[in-house]
Amino acid sequence: MAFSLPDFPWDSLEPLKKQAAGHQEGLIDLSVGSPVDDTPVIAQEALSRAGNAPSYPLTAGTPELRAAIATWWERRRNTGPLESAHVIPTIGSKEMVGLLPTILGLRSGDVVVIPEIAYPTYAIGAHLIGATVVASDNPEDWPTNTSLIWMNSPSNPTGSVASIATLRSAVARARELSAVLASDECYAELSWTLDAVPSLLDREVTGGDLTGLVALYSTSKQSNLAGYRAGIMAGDPELIDRILQVRKHLGLIPPAPIQASLAAVLGDDEHVARQKERYRARRDVLLPAVLAAGFRVDHSEAGLYLWATRGESALESVEWCASRGILVTPGYFYGEAGAGHVRIALTATDGHIAQAATRFSG
Ligand SMILES: Cc1ncc(COP(=O)(O)O)c(C=O)c1O
Repeated sequence: MAFSLPDFPWDSLEPLKKQAAGHQEGLIDLSVGSPVDDTPVIAQEALSRAGNAPSYPLTAGTPELRAAIATWWERRRNTGPLESAHVIPTIGSKEMVGLLPTILGLRSGDVVVIPEIAYPTYAIGAHLIGATVVASDNPEDWPTNTSLIWMNSPSNPTGSVASIATLRSAVARARELSAVLASDECYAELSWTLDAVPSLLDREVTGGDLTGLVALYSTSKQSNLAGYRAGIMAGDPELIDRILQVRKHLGLIPPAPIQASLAAVLGDDEHVARQKERYRARRDVLLPAVLAAGFRVDHSEAGLYLWATRGESALESVEWCASRGILVTPGYFYGEAGAGHVRIALTATDGHIAQAATRFSG
């Protein structure tokens, strides 16, 4: 029987959004992590230079793009040397998160492991092909018939970061199970309290052996490129080739001008550092105000969210925020373990963040 899709979680927030919009100074929406700052000029210029695109683009990406992706992983994620065969561009990372179980040929009866508190798309992608979803952060508990394991570091929504040791034990267990281990790292450049956010593909984790491992990254957040849909993936060349072949059959190809733009932003670290400082400043304004409102903020070492609780139900906290004209996301969108938390996004303008801080602490 076909899996019946749950309602899209954010649609259920409409009544609370309406309530918050009734605030005399208007709605401040901190519920969705959608970037609000300008797309960097370097991306826009590369896009328009590549605007004449009569031919079908390469599913594998242009040679320039593949080189830029490989170099980015080496430079920013300490993978050691990568070749074109280790990388592929994606249409943003969400489609790859949703489609990976399908692309890998998983079926009903296969087990897909996801984090205990997780971005909803990992489970949706597994349910769509009838796989069994197990939510567990403990490798010891991953079932013997597991085919695919998702990790997400830095986590959306909690902002927790997996250490090298945690990643190593995940790799060891995945190999024991002959399962594919996929790490979604789309917030990797936004770390606040740690020196670095290790990648699953970090040499310190893999010792240079990428067998069974893939990692995803996105330029949506680091480069305000969410509207372009520009993601990247790297890992085991055998898996990347399987992914490439399926994507060729399905026509899952980032458009040529987007490929050009993606190559340009991957080669420029400066705009990423600037954007990070914008978010750091917003975090510095919002975090003390959220604490002053009686919330405790857990994890949130990296990424674009504060994972906050006041020891009440998530809905009570969402309603309290809505009464101040602020929309936040209830933690139960991310699983039962989030039932007492809300996720507060840093993706709003400086003006809105300042106003939100006043409303939280007032
Ligand atoms: C954990 C996680 N993975 C993937 C995505 C998808 O990002 P995009 O499709 O813009 O690359 C998001 C977006 O918020 C996310 O939070």
